[in-house]
Amino acid sequence: MPYAHITGWGMSVPEPVLTNDDLAKIVDTNDQWIRERTGIRERRIARDTDFPSTLGTAAALKALEVANLKPTDVDLIICATSTPEHIFPATACLIQDQLGATKAGAFDLLAACSGFIYGLNMAAQSIRSGAIKNAIVIGTETLSRFVDWEDRNTCILFGDGAGAFVLQASDQPGGVLAAVMHSDGSGGNLLTLPAGGSRHPATEATIREGQHYIYMDGKEVFRFATKVMASSTEEVLKLAGLTKEDISVIIPHQANLRIIDAAARGLKLPIEKFIINVDRYGNTSTASIPIAAVEGIEKGRVKKGDKVVFVGFGAGLTWGALVAEWTGPLPSPRKVNMGRYRLWGRVRSLLHRFERFLEGIIWGRKA
Ligand code: UT7
Repeated sequence: MPYAHITGWGMSVPEPVLTNDDLAKIVDTNDQWIRERTGIRERRIARDTDFPSTLGTAAALKALEVANLKPTDVDLIICATSTPEHIFPATACLIQDQLGATKAGAFDLLAACSGFIYGLNMAAQSIRSGAIKNAIVIGTETLSRFVDWEDRNTCILFGDGAGAFVLQASDQPGGVLAAVMHSDGSGGNLLTLPAGGSRHPATEATIREGQHYIYMDGKEVFRFATKVMASSTEEVLKLAGLTKEDISVIIPHQANLRIIDAAARGLKLPIEKFIINVDRYGNTSTASIPIAAVEGIEKGRVKKGDKVVFVGFGAGLTWGALVAEWTGPLPSPRKVNMGRYRLWGRVRSLLHRFERFLEGIIWGRKA
């Protein structure tokens, strides 16, 4: 049975920065309150030209470059997102097209902020089953487009961005060792985007009532989060036959510094074991774990052979944890020139659209 190794990583965040002081000009809040209650100082906000697919594609190309793989080597693209570009088509398919990943199956996975962990687990299972060799898992968000900028309970928390991992099959032991996934739909009402789906399709009334914005019962979500972060970490370690002492670093969902603090206390681990960057990006939902991972790797905090725990929670309610032995790029005789593929995806897409247009003429397109 092959092992599923994490061999590439990349992130992409929009340039515009929104500080706490900027927010204080929009709603009744202040820098001190936000920092003390959440640990957040600033977050990134998508420009008009940034979308989950463009941010996700940029992150995926970087991850492929690290893994030294071509987009055409990819068998599967899983895009975890809480802010898909459309109900359908899947954002994963838009990314597949922009990458030019012509061999890949692609689908979106909706498990809110736990989505990246769920996606890693699904990709690893597909690799270990022998069905595929190379997968990309992406977490990508433009939460700023679903935030009520008049609601100080939520607008201070969220930010935009994307992160991606490449997973590859190898006979060498290591890679994803174990994962746990949980859900409790009885808490679905605690964190929700009420309208715009098939239960409450968009109407003038739903828009007037602001039901297309994120609604959150912050206190309840906080209480739930502090319970499950430590318990799911312990559960996944037990499943992998490891102890807390074996773990070099924990990469948690970046929602609130106080939640990460509570997890560290619950696990009786020093906070230094946790990679934290919520101060600079806020809560980027599915993207928060891979963005924190990429920054941790670049700072030398995650090294080959390290045992790393990823742990998160989110709307659904969902929660989960995954433990992996860190690998890095697999040895390869060739060097992929990713610059060429940045353009290739777009050219290929245009050609396909043109081909479809010509076929339409040949087979009698109706105007
Ligand atoms: O990916 C999962 C996403 N969600 C989460 O992880 C959220 C989890 N929950 C939280 O992080 C916290 O509950 C919040 C950060 C959202 C809120 O922190 P809190 O310590 O639970 O504050 P609170 O809601 O109990 O509010 C305390 C006070 C209230 O005033 P009073 O009633 O005590 O006078 C609020 O009105 O702080 C007030 N308040 C604010 N003040 C300034 C609430 N939001 C703000 C604000 N600025 N932005």
